[in-house]
Amino acid sequence: MTASVISAESIPGTGRAAQGAIELRQVSKHYGDVVAVDELDLTVQPGEFVTLLGPSGSGKTTTMMMVAGFEEHTAGTVLIDGRPVDSLPPRDRNLGVVFQNYALFPHMSALENVEFALRMRKVPRPERRQRAEEALDRVGLGKMGGRKPRQLSGGQQQRVALARALVFNPAALLLDEPMAALDKRLREQMQEEIKTLQKGLGISVLFVTHDQDEAMAMSDRIVVMKDGKIVQSGPPEEVYNHPLTDWVASFLGDTNLIPCTIVERNGEEAVVDLGGLGLAKVRDRGASGENYAVSIRPEHLKFRTRAAAGNGCAATLVSSTNLGATVRHRLTAGGHELQLRELSSDRGTRILPDEELWVGWDADKAQLLVLES
Ligand SMILES: Nc1ncnc2c1ncn2[C@@H]1O[C@H](COP(=O)(O)OP(=O)(O)O)[C@@H](O)[C@H]1O
Ligand SMILES: [Mg+2]
Repeated sequence: MTASVISAESIPGTGRAAQGAIELRQVSKHYGDVVAVDELDLTVQPGEFVTLLGPSGSGKTTTMMMVAGFEEHTAGTVLIDGRPVDSLPPRDRNLGVVFQNYALFPHMSALENVEFALRMRKVPRPERRQRAEEALDRVGLGKMGGRKPRQLSGGQQQRVALARALVFNPAALLLDEPMAALDKRLREQMQEEIKTLQKGLGISVLFVTHDQDEAMAMSDRIVVMKDGKIVQSGPPEEVYNHPLTDWVASFLGDTNLIPCTIVERNGEEAVVDLGGLGLAKVRDRGASGENYAVSIRPEHLKFRTRAAAGNGCAATLVSSTNLGATVRHRLTAGGHELQLRELSSDRGTRILPDEELWVGWDADKAQLLVLES
């Protein structure tokens, strides 16, 4: 484990009054015939960490650019702390911005890059230098202020960009795939550091990623986008465990999708017919469409004894693959191909190829959803 170099305690201004509410009301962006963002309603509460998660081209960057003021929207209103900012230039919106393509100035040192944000905001020179040094300290680069960007690693450059975004005590931070260029290890370290920094400052963050693991790890709330629209929004566990459509379920990870017909719906619960898998009680979020399926995450499918109560049926093991920490089993059950994932340490010794097995799941882990595809 690498120790976190960004320290929340060292941050002046911790515990300041809550600010940094971002609100988009019916915001759209058209590029000719392309509808990049389509009547988006979105709120970030003060101190909240909200992630826009979606595939490439779903409108995430366009949304960020409109909040930051680098793109003009076609329709709608953007408010920051309740104030419409549509006619304000970026520097007057009081937002710290780290974009993937918003690079450091190569001819300036790290310190000068951070100072630049203050120069733009007409902060007097002596104060500028001191605040920039503090900001670099905060991201663990206090000793590297004199280096040019090319003398810094990718992770260090990202830290400078973060210091530059924070140095003027912005109301909120906008981070658009800030870790996309980093390798996995460094990315995970930066994720934790940004999270610690954000909590320490109590600052709101609007974050963009196409990486569902990153979204799960960092967010208070995930907003899933597709084709310029929000398709689902909620806390990470809720969106992961209770997707409303097969598209959301599959975008957020592996899942078993079992087509079904609805027998009965009673508020939060439904009884469905899973064909060869029989009748089952499942969770219901009230999604409505033409075709339905039940989503059960591979880790929620369990080997059971035949006598165990609840949902389940006989299954045949097709293959088992050791993935290190987990084992993925492919099964067939009731005419469906299913995936079951268990921890390698839990791996059942009883499982032999071609042996008849029983698999089951808890009713609250099976989610009724709309089949779009
Ligand atoms: N300057 C532009 N001109 C024309 N189309 C654009 C422009 N910027 C983005 N788009 C289009 O808008 C859509 C959303 O893009 P973007 O917001 O960059 O998506 P994401 O960040 O989710 O990958 C895409 O279809 C993209 O091709
Ligand atoms: Mg983008």
